[in-house]
Formats: sequence, structure tokens, C-alpha cells
Amino acid sequence: MVPHIMSQNIILRIIDVTKRFGDFTAIDKISLDVYDGELLVLLGPSGSGKSTLLRIIDGLEKPDEGRIYLDGEDITHLPPYKRDIAMVFQDLALFPHMTVFDNVAYGLKIRRLPKREIERRVIETLEMMQIEWLSKRKVTQLSGGQRQRVALARSLVLRPKVLLLDEPLGALDLKLRKEMHIELTRLHREVRNTWIFVTHDQEEALTLADRIGILNNGRLIQIGDKWDVYEKPNSLFVADFIGDINILECIVKGECREKLFADYRGKTLIISKKKGVYRGDKVYLALRPELIKVSKSRPDSDKYNFFEGVVVDEIYKGNMVRYEVKIPSGEIIKVNVLSVDADYDINDRIYIFWKHGAGVLLLGDEE
Ligand SMILES: Nc1ncnc2c1ncn2[C@@H]1O[C@H](COP(=O)(O)OP(=O)(O)OP(=O)(O)O)[C@@H](O)[C@H]1O
Ligand SMILES: [Mg+2]
Repeated sequence: MVPHIMSQNIILRIIDVTKRFGDFTAIDKISLDVYDGELLVLLGPSGSGKSTLLRIIDGLEKPDEGRIYLDGEDITHLPPYKRDIAMVFQDLALFPHMTVFDNVAYGLKIRRLPKREIERRVIETLEMMQIEWLSKRKVTQLSGGQRQRVALARSLVLRPKVLLLDEPLGALDLKLRKEMHIELTRLHREVRNTWIFVTHDQEEALTLADRIGILNNGRLIQIGDKWDVYEKPNSLFVADFIGDINILECIVKGECREKLFADYRGKTLIISKKKGVYRGDKVYLALRPELIKVSKSRPDSDKYNFFEGVVVDEIYKGNMVRYEVKIPSGEIIKVNVLSVDADYDINDRIYIFWKHGAGVLLLGDEE
């Protein structure tokens, strides 16, 4: 899939940014280039530093080290209102006693734009968000989804070069979130500015992103096109954090040309070779459940790694079925099969198999 990044121009450049609270390092030497027009999602567990990083970009927090450039200009020490950046906060931070119109107009009034210009831009933005009909209501008289739209409109009306969104859908229920995903994708295409969207929901990240950056313990662990991050995680942490995966702990036995032989629970697997891996090393084969196939007959060992196993659980997920298969060593392997091919039952004896070289070989994460 081709990401709809508008250009490869770097709009925002973060260089070696560190932020400490007392002796706790919340952001640890993060460097990051953000491209003009992209929708970058920052994903990470609670406390990983996502909000802190956004607040630094917005100017609400000062970094202890490092620099930030917006469109080539060093903005490291500029106050928030002098940066061409807007933020949508998790709690929305709307003014409850103002009307929708006044909430959206607020930032433009602060910037002392002419009244007619303010009116024109507010109406245009409310129309884009399809909430023009609510403009005279107080925000206390709106539904959660409508308030969400007002918060977005209030930031978009400023036409910032970069829009920061900190878990903006956190308070919405699943159905509304999914509607907003479609809406946000449409809006982003329409306004074509740069968005940095923070979430800890990996499904949301995969739905919305052009690129995904993964944070953990204040560090940027991996950043790339979303499918690269999904298919080629660079660490056990990323593999485990994004999507569903089997992690097979193996010991390297030897190698031949492009192949590596590794023992997993008494069986030799054939894996693609990786630099810096030697005989006796402990390695991890990360295998997405959709890479594994299922059959009643014995697979061809010249092409596939395989195990015999017993179906111990099945979960119907609409277009696919998740099987949990117990192999002789007692491990459970998760396998996804398209529903049309899923004619197995619990207690069936089956083979699970995957192509030699499939999956990603990872070394243990250093802590
Ligand atoms: N003002 C502060 N003073 C002290 N510690 C702080 C402050 N702000 C954040 N922290 C700490 O920095 C770490 C990162 O916080 P941050 O809010 O950036 O996490 P997050 O990734 O946004 O988490 P969540 O998903 O829960 O919103 C946390 O351990 C938090 O307790
Ligand atoms: Mg946060």
C-alpha cells in the first residue's frame, strides 16, 4: 500500500530531544523527522512519553536538551502561541459556557484577525466538520461525538502547519470511534496539513496512519511505514505491542547459505539468516498468525516448517477464524484462517505450517 504522503519535505524536525522530571527521564534523546502532509501516529503504552513529546512540540513543555525545527526555523524556545502548531487535547478543553461558534472562533480572536475573516473561516470549518447546524448551541448541549468535532474544528480553523492530536477519541465508544476514523481520514485528505496523532490503540494506529512511531520508556523504538512496522518489527517489544503475534524462542544450530537452522522445542526450523547471529545464540522467531497455514495432510518439509498439533480453541472473528493449536511440546500457537477455509473443530489433529524463511527473526530486547 502506498502511503498518501504529499511530499518528502520535512516540515518538523526533532533532534535529540530529552526531557526530565526531577531524575526521571520522560523523553530520552528522541530524534524524528515529520514529512509535510503526512499523518504520523505515535503509539506506545501508558507512560511511554507520548503526551510529553506532543507538549514539547507544542511548546507547553521545554526540553532539557535538543532542538526543534518547524519548516526550517528553530522553534525550540518559542512560546506556544508563536508556533504555527495547534493541539487537540485528550479532554478536549472546550469552553463549556461558550457556543460552538465562539469556541471555534476563540483562537482567531486571540490572534486579532478581522471580524469578517474570523466569521468566514469559522463557518468554512464548521461546514467541513458538518456541524454548522450546531453553531449556536453551547458545548454542554452536545453529544460526545459532536464535542469531538468542535474540538477538532477549533484547532483546524487556525490552519496550523502541524496539528497535534493527543488521544482525541479516547472518550468515545467503539462505534463512534470507528465513525471518527473514517471522518478523520477524509478530513486529513481534505486539509492536507501535517498531523501527529497519539494513541495507545494499535488498531486505531494501523487504521489512520501513513507512518507509525513506537514509543517505550521515553524512547522512539521504531518508526516507519505502518506495514513495515507491522511486518518487520525491529524488536520483541514492537512485535508484541503491535498486532497479534507468536514468539518462538529458538536456539541457533547452524547455517547454510541464506538459511539459518534453529531448534524450537526439539524441532529444527529453517529461518532466514540474520547478521550477527551465531550458533548457540538465543533468538526469537516472530510469526503473525496469518502467516501460518493449516492442513489435515502432512506439509512438504522441503518448503515448510511444520508442527503436528491439536486444535484446543477456536474463535470466530467474522471474516476469519482464530485457532489455538497445541503442539507436542505443549506450546500454543495462534493461527488465523480465512472463514471460507476454516473447517476444523476443537480436538482435531492437524498440521500447522509456514514457509521456510517466513516471519521475523529477533534478538532479545536490552533493558
Ligand atoms: N509534569 C510532570 N512531572 C513529573 N512527571 C511527569 C510529568 N508529566 C509526565 N510525567 C511522567 O512522564 C512519563 C510520561 O508521561 P506521558 O504523559 O508523556 O505518558 P503517555 O505516553 O502520554 O501516557 P498515557 O497513554 O497514559 O497518556 C510518565 O511516567 C509520567 O508520570
Ligand atoms: Mg498521554
